[in-house]
Order: sequence, then C-alpha cells, then structure tokens
Amino acid sequence: MYISKLFRKKSTEVILKQGGDGEHSGLNKVLSVRDLTFFGIAAIIGGGTFSAIGNACFSGGPAVVILYIMCAVACGFTAMCYAEFASRVPVSGSAYTYAYVSFGELFAWIIGWALIMEYSIGNIYIAFSWSGYFTNLLETFGIHLPEWLTINYKSAHAAFLENKVGEGLTAWQNAPMIGSLKVIFDLPAVVINLLITYLVYRGTKESKNFSNAMVYIKLAIIILVIVVGAFYVDIDNWTPFMPNGFSGVMAGVSAVFFAYIGFDAVSTLAEESKNPQRDLPKGMIYSLVICTVVFVILALVITGMVSYELLGVSDPLAEIFALKGVKWMLFIVSIAAVVAMTSVLLVFQMGQPRIWMTMSRDGLMPKKFSEIHPKYKTPSFATIVTGLVVGIPIFFTDENFVLDFTSIGTLFAFVLVCGGVLMLSPQSEAELEERATKGKFRIPYVNSKFIFPLIMIVAVILIMKYSPTFFTDILDFSDGKMATNLPMLVFLLVCIVMTFLSFTKNLSLIPLLGLVSCCYLLTGMAVSNWMWFGVWLLIGLVFYFMYGYKNSKLNK
Ligand code: ALA
Repeated sequence: MYISKLFRKKSTEVILKQGGDGEHSGLNKVLSVRDLTFFGIAAIIGGGTFSAIGNACFSGGPAVVILYIMCAVACGFTAMCYAEFASRVPVSGSAYTYAYVSFGELFAWIIGWALIMEYSIGNIYIAFSWSGYFTNLLETFGIHLPEWLTINYKSAHAAFLENKVGEGLTAWQNAPMIGSLKVIFDLPAVVINLLITYLVYRGTKESKNFSNAMVYIKLAIIILVIVVGAFYVDIDNWTPFMPNGFSGVMAGVSAVFFAYIGFDAVSTLAEESKNPQRDLPKGMIYSLVICTVVFVILALVITGMVSYELLGVSDPLAEIFALKGVKWMLFIVSIAAVVAMTSVLLVFQMGQPRIWMTMSRDGLMPKKFSEIHPKYKTPSFATIVTGLVVGIPIFFTDENFVLDFTSIGTLFAFVLVCGGVLMLSPQSEAELEERATKGKFRIPYVNSKFIFPLIMIVAVILIMKYSPTFFTDILDFSDGKMATNLPMLVFLLVCIVMTFLSFTKNLSLIPLLGLVSCCYLLTGMAVSNWMWFGVWLLIGLVFYFMYGYKNSKLNK
C-alpha cells in the first residue's frame, strides 16, 4: 500500500463531468431557490427547537441566547464555506465530495462516515422526539398507547434500575415478555421512519411538495408561539441571566448546535436543483438567517415566560403553555412539533442516500448504492438502507446518546469543510470573472495575516482580565479534571497553529473563523463522547481498507 494513494484527490473537472449534467443525469432537476431555502428551514427547525431547547435553557438559563448566537456565527461561517464548495462542485455528495477535492480520498471517506452520524443518527433523535409529541397529541384525542410501546428499551431499563417513577418504570412493569425478553420499543418512532422512507423512495417532487407545505405550517405556528408567548413574558425571569455560569451555558452546546444542523443538507440536493451554483448558496444562507432570528427570539420568549428551572423537560414549548394555563396553545404546539419534525426527518432521509450514491459512484461503496429507480428517479437501494440504519437502532438506543453523537460528528464534518476551503487552490482571474458574470457564489477573500493574530491577542487579553485563572486551570489535570480540560487544551493548540499559518500563508479569514469557531464548540463535548466518536471512526477505517481503498475509481 502506498501512503500517497490514501490522499489521491478527485479533480473538480472530473467530478463535474460525473455530476448531474454529465454521465449521471438520472435525477429530476426541479428545485428553485425558494424550494432550497424551504428545504433548509424544513431541515433546521425540528427536534432541536421543540425538544432539545428545554435542557439547554435549563442548564444555561436565559444566557442560552448567547449560545444560540455563538452557534449561528459558527454555522454562518461554515455555511459560506459550504456555499463556496457548492458553487465550485455542484454535485450531490455535500461535504464528502468537497473533502475529496481538497484533502483527498481518506478524508473524504472519513467525512462520508461522519455524515452518517449527522443524517441517520440525527434522524433517530428526531424520531424519538417526534414520538413524544405524537403520543401527547393522541392523548388529547383520548387515545392512550401502552407505555411499553412509546418508550425505548434503554430508557425503560434505566428507569427500572433507578426505580424512577414515571413512564419508563410503568413500561418496564407492564411489558409483555417473549421468552425472558421484555417487549419494549418506541412504536411511533418505528412507524414514522417507515412512512418517511417510503415517501423518499417514491420521489423528490412528491417530497418537495410535502416539505414546502410543512414549512409554511411550522413557521406560522412558531411565530404564533412567539407572539402569544410575548404577552406572558415577565422580565424578572431573565434574572439571574447566567445562573450556572458560562460552563452551564456550554453544557447546552450539543442541543443548541443540533437545532442549527440542516442548512448543510441543502447541498446534497445539488443535482436536483435548477441552477445549483447560484441557488444552493442562497438557499443555505437564507435558511440559516431566517432560523437564527427565530431561535434567538424564541429562546428569549420562553426563558422570559417561566423560570429556566421549569424548562428541563422534553416538550418545553408545550410545557410553558401548560404552566400558563393556555390550553388551546398546547394542542397547536403539539401539532406544530409533529409537523416540524416530520419535515426534518424527510430532508435528512433524502440527504443520506444521496451521499451514499455519490460515494458509490466513486467506488468507495458497493455499486448498488448508486442504483436509480427507473420510475421514481430516486436512489432506491440507498434509501432502503437508510431506512434500516435509522430504524434498527431505534430498538436499542436512547435520545441523549444519539444527540451528542450527532452533534460531534456534524461539527467534525464542518471543521473539515472549513479547512477544505483553506486548502483549495486559488482560481485564475478568468475563472473568477466567469463566476461573477454567471452570478455564481464566491466567498469574499479577506487576508487574515494581521486580523486573525490581532483577534487572538484581544481574546487572550479579555480572558486574562475576566477569567484570570483560565489558562492555569487548563493545565491543571488533577482530580479528574482531565475530562474538561483536554478538549480546551487541544483547542488552544489549534489556535496557536492557525495563528502561525494565518500569518505565514495569508489564509482567507472567513473559512479560518469558521474552522476556529466550530473547533471551539467541540470543546463543549465530553471526553467520553469523543471516545465513542473515535470508535466510530475506527470502524469506518476498517471498512475503507477492506472495500473502498481497493475499489476506488481512482485506483483504476
Ligand atoms: N436541526 C434539526 C432539528 O432540530 C436537526 O431537528
């Protein structure tokens, strides 16, 4: 094996030839800027907004708004990097394809593997949250499903071990048995996954119409939540602003970041959009801006309505109206949550097969994954496998684990996309001119040579002034502090290296800030999650060396 083969790159020209306009023109080109923006919103506002926001507010207090802004900044820079790539390489593989062009095959495979965490594992979390709100909704119609059909096995088992009174314990006590095994699983989560898989299998056009309708409904209802909620805001609830300090705010990073994931899913639809180089960047950036405004206002309203201490529940938007006695909103919010999460499931379930399809075209996955259904024009086999990858773990895992896992994998992919833009070779004047005249997106180049080191110096001065023990704490590894300090230490090293490179290589400022801000968010993840992520990557590498390395088209 030659090490250099691991980093073999695909050239942009070859990728474009193989893309939607060339030899693989099987997909329907039907999506406009509006559709793409709607797809973005459809993917962004979901489980993070309706469920995970609760625990983030509980740990961070009203100051969770700061975290929403921080994540928006990191995602904003990253969205521009995605947009730059989408404009240069408008095919459906998203970050995977971008890494193939900039870092080479091994990194491309690693990103493709990490994206499974974003799309498939993310959908497991959303299926669980969907089930929670759907069960609430059924209850309002007087339909009660037995607890052993509405909770996952792991949570019920944990409730039994802790003897925690509630749904989990009831499920454990009443579950029927098959042999010595208790039958406990989340039936609505399983069913919604089956339905979504079927819809995606049937075709993009049908999915598009469904998704557009759902976006209207969920935006309207979220605006209603904000407007009605605003009448119940009591500004006393905003003090204390940061009850658990900054570490309390950062504890919500997985949840808040998860709420933003989705704008990047737009890039997987490159081959189904009418003018990807112009429209994909717009779709991503518009959807991100709209959702950021919604999130910040929503976080302010809900932390203003009740004390943050009451928000640590899985259905916080329903809870606040229940606490205020606004019954009719409870019902509306539950419907909105079900609708919102259905559309997220849909977009992610469309994204995953399209990434696999692209990897399969490159020879890194078996040929079957790029098979297009002759009638429905969708990647049929890859869609079915996605349904299985989402559906099977629903029986074995729980929502907290998958939430952290998804956020870490996605942030990792974002870091590599930003790094990828830094690695792209500069385009010639003629190429830039051509992009400008055709209205194709281009990331503005700002030289970071002096600006980035200056930002770092100002940051250090501010930290020393407001948190004098910050740096000494990081080097203190006594008493099990390793778990919190190690990610921060790695982050500081990244900052030092990037400062040096910005000065010596005149790096482009926007991708550089994207890379550093995403790395910073990664410091909020616990070391134990990093270990799981490492195991996941190792399994991926085994797959690569057993199959992709040999079968890669670049090997031929
Ligand atoms: N942002 C998406 C959600 O919150 C993943 O459901």
